[in-house]
Amino acid sequence: MDGVAFRLPSPGPAEAERGLLRFLTCGSVDDGKSTLIGRLLFETGQVRDDHLATLERDSPRFGTTGAAPDYALLLDGLEAEREQGITIDVAYRYFSSARRSFIVADTPGHAQYTRNMATGASTSDLAVILVDATRGITDQTERHSRIVSLFGIRQVILAVNKMDRVGGSQATFDAIETAYRAFARDLGFEALTVIPLSARDGDNLTTRSRLTPWFAGPTLLEALDRARTDVDLALERPFRFPVQWVNRPDAGFRGYAGTVASGRVRAGDRVVVGPSGQVATIDRIVTWEGDQPSARAGDAVTLVLAEAVDVSRGDVLAHPHDRPASVERFVGRLLWMDETPLDPARSYLLRLGTRTVAARVRVLDAASDGTAPVEGVTLAMNAIARVALTLSSPVAFDPFASDPLTGGFILIDRETHATVAAGTALHPLDQPADIHVASGAVDRRQRERLNGHRGAVVWFTGLSGSGKSTLAVEVERCLHGRGIRTVLLDGDNLRHGLNRDLGFSEDDRAENIRRAGEVARLFAETGVVTLCAFISPRQAQRDAVRTRMDEGLFLEVFVDAPVALCRARDPKGLYAKADRRAITGLTGVDAPYEPPVSPDLTLSTEIDPVERCAARVIARLEAEGVI
Ligand code: ADX
Repeated sequence: MDGVAFRLPSPGPAEAERGLLRFLTCGSVDDGKSTLIGRLLFETGQVRDDHLATLERDSPRFGTTGAAPDYALLLDGLEAEREQGITIDVAYRYFSSARRSFIVADTPGHAQYTRNMATGASTSDLAVILVDATRGITDQTERHSRIVSLFGIRQVILAVNKMDRVGGSQATFDAIETAYRAFARDLGFEALTVIPLSARDGDNLTTRSRLTPWFAGPTLLEALDRARTDVDLALERPFRFPVQWVNRPDAGFRGYAGTVASGRVRAGDRVVVGPSGQVATIDRIVTWEGDQPSARAGDAVTLVLAEAVDVSRGDVLAHPHDRPASVERFVGRLLWMDETPLDPARSYLLRLGTRTVAARVRVLDAASDGTAPVEGVTLAMNAIARVALTLSSPVAFDPFASDPLTGGFILIDRETHATVAAGTALHPLDQPADIHVASGAVDRRQRERLNGHRGAVVWFTGLSGSGKSTLAVEVERCLHGRGIRTVLLDGDNLRHGLNRDLGFSEDDRAENIRRAGEVARLFAETGVVTLCAFISPRQAQRDAVRTRMDEGLFLEVFVDAPVALCRARDPKGLYAKADRRAITGLTGVDAPYEPPVSPDLTLSTEIDPVERCAARVIARLEAEGVI
């Protein structure tokens, strides 16, 4: 694979890395890019005395600056070599200020070198985009800005170079700044700093310039010093841990290795495994320096879970209350980077985080901005387009806007293994139901309109005797009285028919809940408020049902009653039977029950009468806009 990497904060000794800023420079020789970088290296003391002597000697002969030193000569001729047909992808240069260290990715500026720019962008915290004050914003400026945005760079410095050539004109600068800010409004930059400078003379590079007395902003170096790193930004986002590999040195140890992409995690935290939806507890956080109580964005760690859940490379761990969606289709924006155009009939490999799946790509109708694919449309090299991606299996999905670290993807050609496109995830697309209730002319929305309310699933979970069915019956009675279409599913009625082949082993219970969940989903899709009362003892089973539903249309209701009370009620005599050993595997006696980790509603049938509990469910359905 070539250098276009998926964005992850660099792993490593976390504290030491935090001071390091990686940035990218965009622009051409004509804009003064080489001079800018050369001068920065010089002014921050990276140039050795003997180099300087050579520079002073060579400048009058080879340079373009007359007798003055031509700082562009300090660079190793990236553009020049390119012109001779030598391919250079990206040159990295290092320098430091009093405050931090920098790595600059320098890439050739011309359109056909988009791929190289993408390589640099995929690992940068910030981009310096150069414009020539005498020329203003060009197509190339706009194109570079779009690519920078596409690769998740959220901080941009627009360096308005050659201010000396326009006599330090504030009007010229202001016009460029205004035009650029208007253009960049939709590019999602969180911080945009515009600086007037002259790379050749060193104005506003590391020291304030007399050329622009009207300018109150920072110098280039000050702005770079103040910029935030990806790791800083990632700390503010929800916890995401894409699993890089499963570490299993012997039968006694099973850990999941990777780099925390964003947020923080502590030992003891409950986490959900995406896309499967299973829930587990962090038992240990293992590092080279031994176990740690917590980890944060940028830390390379191995996580050990308390429960034996199924986790594999490419899965994403998150907190249950703030987790990625699980999707098989989504809309993305991508940049096609290959000479062979996109073939909508082919299957590509999509890498999102540490996960790789097969994907088909259809270009979406740009004019209508809709989600309808236009048949047969391809993308040529350097085209940017909105596309629909259909995956071979579900992935944990964060829209790029909420998490640039987990919302970026690349496409790989299955035969040549070349990275053919890079892109950002915009939003999920409706899942094609595998049983098509909604096929044909009438869709879910139309059914809901006819009914006058939405379809949804209210899932009551709790011990046998906790009052799930009683409560569901009461809720249904009230809803029906208000003219709302309902259906009631419970363990007993389903187990007589659809699920009569199932018993009470772990596997059978999981299958029982899976089928119940599918049936509930079908009802919900027909616009019916579906009330489900199942013990459903495992969080993972309930989560798996939730992931099949639209957000907000699945309510997990914990019907909470102490075992002692359930025993005392014992409506079906099951506890008595279990005590006599006439049955085994009764939840709460000799089989486990996992109370919901983050239920949408918890109701205590010990404290509140059934009418009050039912009223709370109904109030919640109103609040969610279901009824
Ligand atoms: S679940 O555990 O698979 O979610 P479900 O809610 O469908 O259970 O069914 C529970 C019902 O099955 C109980 O209300 C009870 O009538 C009956 N049942 C029979 N044996 C058992 C058992 N060993 N544990 C729990 N419920 C049982």
